[in-house]
Amino acid sequence: MKAFRINQWGQPGQIEDIPQPVPANDEVLVRVHATSINPVDVMSVAGYLKAMQQVPLTPGTDFAGEVISTGANVTHVKVGDAVYGMIPMRGGAFAEYATPKGHELALKPQSLDYGQAAAVPLASLAAWQTLIDFAKVQNGERVLILGAAGNVGSVAVQLAKQNGAYVIACDLPGRENFLLELGADELIDAETEKFEELVKDIDIVANYASADLLERAYSVIKSGGRYATTFGQPDQVAAELRGIRSFGVFTQPTVEHLTRLANMIDANKLKVFVQNTFPLDATQAALDYRLPAGQAGKVVVTVA
Ligand SMILES: NC(=O)c1ccc[n+]([C@@H]2O[C@H](COP(=O)([O-])OP(=O)(O)OC[C@H]3O[C@@H](n4cnc5c(N)ncnc54)[C@H](OP(=O)(O)O)[C@@H]3O)[C@@H](O)[C@H]2O)c1
Repeated sequence: MKAFRINQWGQPGQIEDIPQPVPANDEVLVRVHATSINPVDVMSVAGYLKAMQQVPLTPGTDFAGEVISTGANVTHVKVGDAVYGMIPMRGGAFAEYATPKGHELALKPQSLDYGQAAAVPLASLAAWQTLIDFAKVQNGERVLILGAAGNVGSVAVQLAKQNGAYVIACDLPGRENFLLELGADELIDAETEKFEELVKDIDIVANYASADLLERAYSVIKSGGRYATTFGQPDQVAAELRGIRSFGVFTQPTVEHLTRLANMIDANKLKVFVQNTFPLDATQAALDYRLPAGQAGKVVVTVA
């Protein structure tokens, strides 16, 4: 099969012909139709995760495709099902075939094509596991989302609105219309404004923009509030001193999460945005691609 391979950390990857993987009992053989680019894939190829990964490596986290065969222990999907999911850390999605574990995939949203479905898993699960599972966002709460127009942030804005929150969306300039269309109630321009000078007594800060914003973020959260982030485990001592709860997610796929997201998408309650699409042969170009100023949405790689 064709796969995008990294043979040396920090060097561009290339398409190679490698043996098709064979699923173990807890895995599923998926014919990958599309995958998408996440920051973790870019970091992986650059070698930042080499303590946890080995070369040669087929990177790639998100996927959408068709079930070719299932391991003996996998019962929730069957041959021919259209599925989507994510493979955390092990990689393998930038290829014609991948072998995710059973709990890493579910039936894909029916209303999306494979490319759109591949844009969903990691970013949406991260938003869900920070904002819903940890922060338990409630009706009427004031939520500040840092990096609101990004892959994770744009889902978080929608989830917060679905749950009746008042959403203050902070990101770099140029994506104001996008954020308003997502439902943001208030915008903060991270380039020209300081959010800590504009807001206070926030119930939840969800930070998907930068670990460096931690102290500033803590300073605007009211006692009893929550801080959730995708940047590792935040300072618990400082959080306790302020009377807030603080959490860093390591996003994990589950069948239940993926199914709930698919149901929301099919019910038109969650929108998915694809900004650009590359073929598998151009995976390195997809990894190197940077969104033009003011643009939002995921970068998708179509496989077949
Ligand atoms: N721990 C986990 O399980 C997990 C899961 C998913 C993601 N992540 C991490 O979470 C981060 C977000 O992921 P993503 O896919 O959403 O990335 P993304 O699409 O690049 O989103 C980040 C957003 O933050 C904006 N931004 C940058 N600096 C900012 C600032 N100072 N204030 C406000 N906004 C700012 C970015 O604008 P520009 O594009 O203009 O820079 C972008 O819109 C990444 O670092 C990723 O590695 C971790």
